Amino acid sequence: MSVLIRGGTIVTSTGRYVADVFADGDQITAIGSDLDNPADEVINAQGKYVLPGAIDPHTHLAMPFMGTHAQDDYETGTIAAACGGVTSVVDFDMQQKGESLLEAIERKQSWAEGKVAIDYSLHPAVTDPRPEVMEEVQKAILDYGTPSFKIFMVYDFRVDDATMIKLLEQTRKYGGLVQVHAENVHMVDHLNAELEKEGKLEPYYHAVSRPNIVEEEAVARAAKMVEMTGSRIYIVHLSSKEGLSKVKEARDRGIDVYAETCPQYLLLDEERYKEPNFQGAKYVMSPPLRSRESNDALWMGLNSGDLQVVATDHCPFDFQGKKDMFGKDDYKKIPNGAPGIETLLMLMHSEGVVKGRISLEKMVDTLSTGTARMFGLKDKGAVQVGKDADLVVFDPNLKFTITQSKLHMNVDYTPFEGFEITGMPEKVYARGKKVAEWNGEQVDFVGEVGRGRFVKREPFERF
Ligand code: URP
Ligand code: ZN
Ligand code: ZN
Repeated sequence: MSVLIRGGTIVTSTGRYVADVFADGDQITAIGSDLDNPADEVINAQGKYVLPGAIDPHTHLAMPFMGTHAQDDYETGTIAAACGGVTSVVDFDMQQKGESLLEAIERKQSWAEGKVAIDYSLHPAVTDPRPEVMEEVQKAILDYGTPSFKIFMVYDFRVDDATMIKLLEQTRKYGGLVQVHAENVHMVDHLNAELEKEGKLEPYYHAVSRPNIVEEEAVARAAKMVEMTGSRIYIVHLSSKEGLSKVKEARDRGIDVYAETCPQYLLLDEERYKEPNFQGAKYVMSPPLRSRESNDALWMGLNSGDLQVVATDHCPFDFQGKKDMFGKDDYKKIPNGAPGIETLLMLMHSEGVVKGRISLEKMVDTLSTGTARMFGLKDKGAVQVGKDADLVVFDPNLKFTITQSKLHMNVDYTPFEGFEITGMPEKVYARGKKVAEWNGEQVDFVGEVGRGRFVKREPFERF
């Protein structure tokens, strides 16, 4: 299979230029002017962007959580990803009690096999830090191709500070990266108990139970552990102005603290929790949505470089039957998480680039090039000869109104319902094969389930 994309504007993390792109088999093999390589498919991309496929490094496909499981599995989740222009995911792999990291990796690979439509990798999430598991971290970085490790400072599968320090030591030695869900569990427990006494149990109180200081304290503590160990850390789903200020403070002192945010923290605010008929439950996620002030600060953080990655934290649960049943009488029981894998690129372009909040190049950097570098995906993340032909022919003028019925995620709502989008993926290629295409009204999946591969990643490279 070969494809020649003629006359599009190739966008990199630092600039843009008009050229032809030729992909033969899995890879980009030529970029230049007036290419005449014979190709199975020739596309006129004049007036369109040629982007590297987005990489979503924060997904929870099929993850068991809060008495249920995240509803998108490797098939539905990666079909939805492809339709949104996401051509690789790095999914969280929650270690089960008693498992080694390798067993956890092989278990999730068995779930993905034959189902995954785009390439994927895994971040082992350390939840059972036995001494032999901490020793295994070296192998995970150097042999298994999984050099990033998730830990949680909250939830019942959290690790304590002593484990964080040990993991930071191990990752410093071998070139690993620790990813942290940063919230202070004791503050949350305290506020939960207070709110319970007062009978404040509606979805809105989920946000009240996790104020910005909960994130601020945890980010600051994690940064201090990085300072002590000389290691590096990546804060996932950063949500607040105060959390960002702690990231910035550490970075300004030369401490290796990196961070991601997500479209929901850039575009939605805590007023959503007040939606009638229990609909506020749709936005119950941790950390919670914040104020407009935090939204604005996070856009600024992307532009200043203090935030390097935009990911989705895709973790969907139906509103009807899950969100509205489990936690009807108590926000603490509402499964935490929301869908987003399919709307990532369209939102960042329409709300970010078109509205002048970030440049097109910054979008490419935070969705693709910088993400590939952060997570050691050496063949991904840029439109360059030798890289995998993970490409999006993106029409910046296509209009689309986000609505659940036109999306592919296996869930009954989107938090971005009604957003008017300018610019959509017109054709999406994953390792040279077309996987999604605009049909005039929405994007269709045209790829092959099971063609995605597990990608071994490289150890961390300093930014
Ligand atoms: O609420 C969220 N974010 N759910 C998914 C799990 C996590 O904490 O990332
Ligand atoms: Zn989290
Ligand atoms: Zn998450």
